[in-house]
Amino acid sequence: MRKSVLILGAGSDVARALARELAQAGYDLQLAGRKVEELAKDARDLEIRFGIQSRALYFDALDLDTHQSFYEALKPRPMGVVAAFGLLGEEDLARHNQQEWLRIIHTNYTGCVSILTIAANNLEQSGEGFIVGISSVAGDRGRAANYVYGSAKAGLSAFLSGLRNRLHKRGVRVITVKPGFIKTKMTRELDLPPRLTASPEEAATDIFRAISKRKDVIYTRWIWRWIMLVIRNIPERVFKRLSI
Ligand SMILES: NC(=O)c1ccc[n+]([C@@H]2O[C@H](COP(=O)([O-])OP(=O)(O)OC[C@H]3O[C@@H](n4cnc5c(N)ncnc54)[C@H](OP(=O)(O)O)[C@@H]3O)[C@@H](O)[C@H]2O)c1
Repeated sequence: MRKSVLILGAGSDVARALARELAQAGYDLQLAGRKVEELAKDARDLEIRFGIQSRALYFDALDLDTHQSFYEALKPRPMGVVAAFGLLGEEDLARHNQQEWLRIIHTNYTGCVSILTIAANNLEQSGEGFIVGISSVAGDRGRAANYVYGSAKAGLSAFLSGLRNRLHKRGVRVITVKPGFIKTKMTRELDLPPRLTASPEEAATDIFRAISKRKDVIYTRWIWRWIMLVIRNIPERVFKRLSI
């Protein structure tokens, strides 16, 4: 039987690169996001290039009330689900503006919990499959520069860890992806250090390998695992004085 993967936030640069990897490996794809017309073009392109079946679907992570019916309408039910959507937001604005911090938290945390809870319950019944959640190194330690976003990603990492613990016995794998820097639409305004910055294609290859090799948690680029080990271990009395 053909295997279908659902990609949520499929317009993300990382998600688009991952879609190509998955299509090349023969997975059919359901591309979900807010810009359906653009996703439909991607779906057609993937079908022509890789001979798979693909289609585009409307999905808004913030529209929680629609998540159950969205998932129930999927045909076929996916055996893999990738949550790639995310929002860096404007941290300075979030310090004063309730709408902004709510948008950041609901996109990166609540929206993910909502749709992945539905996906998890469904996959649990079938007794196989995988869930990929794209979190961030920003969730490993709160920093002045992006602690609202970081706290949402920290919540997401904890959620995925618990989900993995729950679903391991049921044959469903849960993979947490913690990117450092990736050169995408999200970071186009930022001046990123080249040695620590992955391309979307490099991040996608790391994610695809994690799915194939049954990994639990990966950092991309891998060096971030060690960078964050150091950063997590800086004593709070020192950390609070730093600007990193
Ligand atoms: N780039 C980095 O350095 C970096 C580092 C750590 C973690 N990450 C994480 O990696 C993931 C992929 O991000 P990216 O770097 O590829 O950024 P991106 O190209 O900006 O993609 C983000 C995607 O999220 C979608 N999205 C935002 N809000 C949504 C909503 N309410 N409903 C549905 N989709 C929504 C956007 O869709 P629209 O096009 O409709 O806005 C966009 O396609 C994200 O979870 C991000 O937090 C990225």
